[in-house]
Amino acid sequence: MTIKYILGLSILSMSAFVACSEATEGNEQRSAVEVTTDSIVTVDKHSYANTDEIFTSHLHIDLNVDFDNRVLSGVAIHNVNNKAGVEEMIFDIHDLTIEKVELDNGEETTFELGEYDELLGQSLTVKIKAETEKVFIYYATQPNSKALLWLNPQQTAGKEHPYVFTQGEAVLTRTWIPCQDTPGNRITYSADITVPADLMAVMSADNPTEKNAEGKYHFETEQPIPTYLVALAAGDLEFASLGDRTGVYAEPSMIDKCVYEFAEVEDMITAAEELYGPYKWGRYDMIVLPPSFPYGGMENPRLTFATPTILAGDRSLVSLIAHELAHSWSGNLVTNATWDDFWLNEGFTVYFESRIMEALYGKEHSDMLFSIEYDELMHETTEILEGDHPEDTQLKLDLEGRDPDEGMTSIAYVKGALFLKTLEDAVGREAFDTFISTYFKDHEFETLTTEIFVDYLNANLLETEGVTFNTEEWIYEDGIPDNAIEIKSDRFEKVEEKSVLVADMESVGSLAIPEDKWSTQEWMHFIRQIPEETEATQYQKLDDAFGFSSCGNAEIMSEWYVSSIEHGYEGIYVDLEGFLMNVGRRKFLRPIYTALADFPEKKEWARVVYQEARPNYHSISYNTIDEILDWQE
Ligand code: BES
Ligand code: ZN
Repeated sequence: MTIKYILGLSILSMSAFVACSEATEGNEQRSAVEVTTDSIVTVDKHSYANTDEIFTSHLHIDLNVDFDNRVLSGVAIHNVNNKAGVEEMIFDIHDLTIEKVELDNGEETTFELGEYDELLGQSLTVKIKAETEKVFIYYATQPNSKALLWLNPQQTAGKEHPYVFTQGEAVLTRTWIPCQDTPGNRITYSADITVPADLMAVMSADNPTEKNAEGKYHFETEQPIPTYLVALAAGDLEFASLGDRTGVYAEPSMIDKCVYEFAEVEDMITAAEELYGPYKWGRYDMIVLPPSFPYGGMENPRLTFATPTILAGDRSLVSLIAHELAHSWSGNLVTNATWDDFWLNEGFTVYFESRIMEALYGKEHSDMLFSIEYDELMHETTEILEGDHPEDTQLKLDLEGRDPDEGMTSIAYVKGALFLKTLEDAVGREAFDTFISTYFKDHEFETLTTEIFVDYLNANLLETEGVTFNTEEWIYEDGIPDNAIEIKSDRFEKVEEKSVLVADMESVGSLAIPEDKWSTQEWMHFIRQIPEETEATQYQKLDDAFGFSSCGNAEIMSEWYVSSIEHGYEGIYVDLEGFLMNVGRRKFLRPIYTALADFPEKKEWARVVYQEARPNYHSISYNTIDEILDWQE
């Protein structure tokens, strides 16, 4: 595999780049990059691209969306910056059919495909000239492209029109666009997308608010972004405005529900800006996708992609939007240079999310939300420490030869946020907030490694405040350091008093639960804290009283299903089948299928359901579940 080097601060820090490119040419120059920069040289192990020599500055894609054949086809035009004057440009591709490649004024050129790797795809090496300005790659996706999920009408809310969406992070953009697919390079992009005339297309760009008769949509972006943030969705979409700079896209039958659920989003933007500076992306819209979307949310710039499972009907799950919004600073403005630095994206975002929620709803509420994640962190840390990769409990990862997806654990998210909360506690909120605001400002539209962050932290916070802190331990050592601050939720303590009674209760009434006053999170905690030894008969009583199995709130249902499976309660299976058929969000599917797989006859049941449900899932989800159920396609 070709190794790619990213210069210390940012690929766009031209002084460093020019210094290197003047040194030598070609391969020699690569080693020059390695030795001549005094800042840290970073290797992106998950890209073949030679961005250290030549990189895309602007990308234009012109694509036709063909639902019948499940193919996107057209051209990707790369405006290149070939400061080093090299004669080869290396792109990442994965399951793409490359038809031909042309340079500048339509002159065809030769290209070569590297060896195929299941995880990273292939290199596409294009012969160019020192003076080449544009590379045109004519291509088509294959129907099994991993980024794309093609849904037939039956799999949508409206049941009448097909739907397609992309998921780029972490290394999937190369499965629908030939590009230098590394977070270490930022590009602007534009697009012309043709869809069937009754559909609307939207992207992580400026978006239409109405369908047009030809099904042709043009998109522009102003701000440079890493390729994992290029995103597309097309379906029977409607737009509803929520405020001056926010709105939501969804299928028509969902739109009213979305408008209710997201009414507070404009306030979130205001709160976020008050904390850490101006929102730099113009509009902030959301699209609520079909339930097959594999994640809760994805921070595609200007257009967060979200699962419909956050539509609880009572706004109790909107912290997910606060999270994706926070990525407009941490992640999209200041970006992890490689997937080993993923915690820089997610840890900062969970911290920021928590601050937005605190600003809007108070500390008791945000502590309660964080407690849910803290429990998961404790549980997962133990699990990882006992597994094959205990070093995955360090913030800085080493994912060489592994799927970056494996770094998507609560370590990056919650240990990352806990590190920042502990730092905040050590230096005081005022100093910490000034530091974070300055951090975003100083590094906006850059990519950052963990090492550069640590230097910046030392110089701009710890030294100026005269504070010593065990940063190295937090980042480069296993587990959770002892000085981690404790986040306690008084409301959860009250919930626990009820949970402990479940094992021996005569009737649910004896628990005296103030049913209508509990939030989603209190119910989740209640279910989690039911004692181990509780018999299935007690689960039946709870289900009769509260109807958890079919309550419609996906967070509560998934907690309930897992706990019920583990305790042999049989009353869930009709509802569970419906849930598994409908919902493709991996966060819910993984624990449910894992619990089922622990019991041979339940595993058999799960495999029967999965046979039917699998086409509703995105590759990100079915790859995980295939493994749990020993599924072979
Ligand atoms: N950027 C992530 C999703 C992601 C991470 C996709 C890694 C691919 C690789 C997104 O911001 C996220 O964290 N989503 C969470 C929700 C959040 C509230 C923790 C999710 O989908 O569960
Ligand atoms: Zn995130």
